[in-house]
Parts: sequence; C-alpha cells; structure tokens
Amino acid sequence: MQRRRALAFFLAVPIAAAAGTAVWVTDSSSSDGNPGTDPGAAPGSGAPDPGGAEPGAAEAGEPPPGPLAADARGLVPIPIEALGAKGAGWTLSRDTRVRAATEAARAVAEVVAAELRTATGLPLPVVVDARAHAGTDLSLVPDPPGTTPADRPAGDEAYALTVTAGGATIRASAPAGLYRGAQTLRQLVPARAPFELRPAVVRDAPRYPYRGIMIDLARHFYPPAEMRRLIDHIAAYKFNHLHLHLTDDQGWRIAIEGRPRLTGIGASTQVGGGPGGFWTAADYQGVIGYAAERFITVVPEIDMPGHTNAAIVAYPELACDGRKYAPYTGTQVGFSALCVDGEATYTFLDEVLGRLAELTPGPYLHIGGDETHTLKPAQYRAFMARAQPIVARHGKQLIAWHQLAAGDPVPGAIIEYWGASKQDAAAVAAAARAGHKVVMAPADHAYLDMKYAGGERLGVTWAGTVDVRTSYDWEPSTHLPGLPADAVLGVEGALWGETIKSVADAEYLLFPRIAAVAEAAWSRPERRDWADFRTRIGTHEARWQARGINYARKLS
Ligand code: ACM
Repeated sequence: MQRRRALAFFLAVPIAAAAGTAVWVTDSSSSDGNPGTDPGAAPGSGAPDPGGAEPGAAEAGEPPPGPLAADARGLVPIPIEALGAKGAGWTLSRDTRVRAATEAARAVAEVVAAELRTATGLPLPVVVDARAHAGTDLSLVPDPPGTTPADRPAGDEAYALTVTAGGATIRASAPAGLYRGAQTLRQLVPARAPFELRPAVVRDAPRYPYRGIMIDLARHFYPPAEMRRLIDHIAAYKFNHLHLHLTDDQGWRIAIEGRPRLTGIGASTQVGGGPGGFWTAADYQGVIGYAAERFITVVPEIDMPGHTNAAIVAYPELACDGRKYAPYTGTQVGFSALCVDGEATYTFLDEVLGRLAELTPGPYLHIGGDETHTLKPAQYRAFMARAQPIVARHGKQLIAWHQLAAGDPVPGAIIEYWGASKQDAAAVAAAARAGHKVVMAPADHAYLDMKYAGGERLGVTWAGTVDVRTSYDWEPSTHLPGLPADAVLGVEGALWGETIKSVADAEYLLFPRIAAVAEAAWSRPERRDWADFRTRIGTHEARWQARGINYARKLS
C-alpha cells in the first residue's frame, strides 16, 4: 500500500484479522493501558511503515508512533486507513473551540459543533481563525484553492483527520469532506466524559458517489421534525442521499400549488387508517435545507404510473380503467394506474414534476415506475415514453425503479435495482451494459423493512428475513449477474412503511442495519469483514442509547 506523506511517522499493523490490508493501527504489542477489546484485532508483525517522506515534511505537532485507542476500533463505515500513535491524547474540554480556518468552513463548523455539544454537553464555540492554533481546538481546514491533497484521495467527500495532543484537525477539499471527517471524529469521542481521544490519523474517501436511504412517507407519515431526526441518523453514517417516497396508494405527502385535493383528500390517511398528513412546500424545503447542511441531497419520488391511488381519489380524471377508487389503508400493491391515454395524466405530471423540480435543488427526480400490474407492457412503455421527457424538460435527471429497465429508459436515466425476478435482473444488467447507471437496493439485503429473523412485530418477509449480517454480507459490484462493476453508481437502503407506526418503529428497523448498508456503500471491499464489523458496530450501542434511539438488540 502506498504511504502518504502525512502518515510517515506511523508504524502500522493491521487491526482486522481477516484483512491483511485492512485498517492499520500501530503495534498493539506495546501497552497503551487499553485492554484491546476487539477480539478481531491481530497484533500483526509490526512491520515498519516504509513511509518515504522526509521527517521535515511532517506537520508540526504530529504525534510520534504508538497504539491506537480501542475506541478507534469502532469506526463505521470503516475508513481507508486509520493509524494510531504513541504519546499524549487530546481531551475535548470547556476550553475547546471549533475553529473554521476559512469563512467557507464556518457553516459546517456550526453543524459539527452542535452535534458535538449534544454528545458532550460542552460549550464548543465556533470561531473563524486562519492562524495556526495551539491548545485544544478542533480545526476544520479546507485546502487552499487549486492545491492537490497529499494526505488523502481527491474528491469532495475525502478527508484526513489528525488527532494530536494539541487538538484535532480535519482537512478536506470541500465542506462535504470536512463534515464526513467530523462524523469519524464523533465516533472517536467516548460516549461519556472524559472525552479523551488517542493520537490518530485517518485518511478516507467514499467508494460510491451515491449512498442513499429511502424513507416511505406514504405508508406512514413522518412530520418534518421526525424526518430531521432520521436525517441525523443517516448523516452519522456518511450517507449522502435521502430518497423520499412521497406518494403511493395510501397517501400523497407533498403540497403542490394548484392541486389542493392532492393533500386535501390524498393525504388524509395512511396504512392502518391513521390520520396521515402532508408537508407544505416550506416544510419540504426546510427538510432539504437541514439535509443540505449535512451534505445530503434529497431525491423526491412521485411514484407512477402505478401506486397512484391517492392521486386518483383526489383527481378521478387521472384514471380511465372504470374501477372505483377510494382511499386505501391496506398494504396490497399493483392495483392502481394513471390513465395512459388521457391528456389529463400528462398535464398533471407536468404540473407536479415541474413544481417539485422548482422546489428541489438536487439534480434528481425519481418517478417510481414499479409494480403497475394493471397495465400491459406496451401501455407501460407508452406511458414512460411521455413521462420521462417531462423530467428532462424541468431540468432534472431521472431515476426510476428497475422496471423501467425493460420500459425504454431515456439516455441518462438511472435505474434503481431492488431485486425481484431473474428476468428483471437481466433487464437491469442489459440496461447497464447500454450505459445506464444503477443504484443497488436489493430487497434481500438492503430493504430495511424486512423482518429480522427473530419474529418481531415489525417488518415484512416477502424477500425473506434480513438479519444484520444479511444486510452486511453482500457485494454491490457482483450482486447482479452480468452487471458491469463500473455501472454501479451506489447503494441504497430502503425503509418501506407498511408496518411502521412511529419514528421509534422506524429506528428499530434501521438500527443496526443502517450501519451495515453504510459500510457496503462507503468502504472499500477489501476493508470489509463481517466479524470485524460486528465488533466495531457493537461499540456504537452506548451512543445509540445516549441518543435515545430505539435500536434492535441484534449484535450479540
Ligand atoms: C418496490 O419495492 N416496489 C420498489
């Protein structure tokens, strides 16, 4: 492995027994007073790091070699490289400031400081200060414009994190990288005082550019405050896309100017007959802003031509099959469809997608496209031939569930694979070979609404049970036969809402599996190992408890 300059002072041995090239820590045979709680950790050979950099190139204050604190063995998703060092650590204290080295880093510093205040109860004031610091600061330092980082891969989300006795520094090319690095730092901070961190260097960058979680608001409605709570969870595991399933048979959750009955009638219930609800445009933009502060792009989905019962109840002219549509609170799928031959359908889509495009700063609109069992394939194609250009006309890139792969996707359309039949899989692989990018969300690994194997109240089983290991043990680039590895844009975990009645239910299904999906999306395959992950993620339980997260006790 090529060493980089900033790492030259570290002696490295692998921490993960199963992966000789896995995360590196310094020789753990020297005692650091830490019991070494990680049973997966191997002492290793202690082979010196060839380094290659002249000592003078090291940064002032860089720690001498030594063992990494056991806490650092709890990083999830696992970074490209994490090294420890001997010497004094750094303790967050009442004197610690969060120092933004440039004005551009101030906004991210504010968010990071708020997160650390919640975790520690410390005041952690934010200052903008470009001078070299001394003392106990956490410094967020963007690269000077036009420079190439020497201590990490390139990319907006890449970062290098250094902890020394004098403080902690995160460097990145862009604010997103500073924020991702801060999520790693949060995992190095002990769950309880004293908040002492061992000296360390972490060098990291994501594997995939698209790392998503889908939340289904249609089957169970979440008010914006609950969505913010879920965004906090998503951000902590370095996801960068939040896919909102805003409409389905059971509910329409976003206000659209000029179409009041969508929310007046279409939002009035949910699965099981609860009151439902909807977001105003301001609610939606508030959620987008909260996500954006955490470098998460919102991907809104209006599902069509099926999964449209709520829209049709509100505007009956959208259907032409003669069926009687009424508000629906059950959990069947595939029974509703927009009228393929009706002009009212396309006028409606133009209004809805146009308004959503106006409200959405991110590049994507997701148009669903799944499970339209009442339409013949030719009707589905005819619909998609008219619906897809509407997205482009409003300046957005289209994403759709994988049924579109067999429905003449327009060039540039992104296919989201959720895994159904062999025929579907073959169609997705063929579309990928024709140039379409694919987001991998296979239901038997990444659908986080599947039951755990313990027979709990929550979850469904149509794709089997998905224990934590099942959500971890899959490889996105080879999962789908015939899919070119470079067609994989990323990975998404999906939380459908049929059995969810509260945000606590959502958390039970998300945790711990969200972390497993995060690692499939972020970490290099050669770094991934189930036994090692299980040990690392076990250290997060104390943090989940501290934050009141209703997680499933599934790790022991
Ligand atoms: C899906 O699970 N119907 C996308």
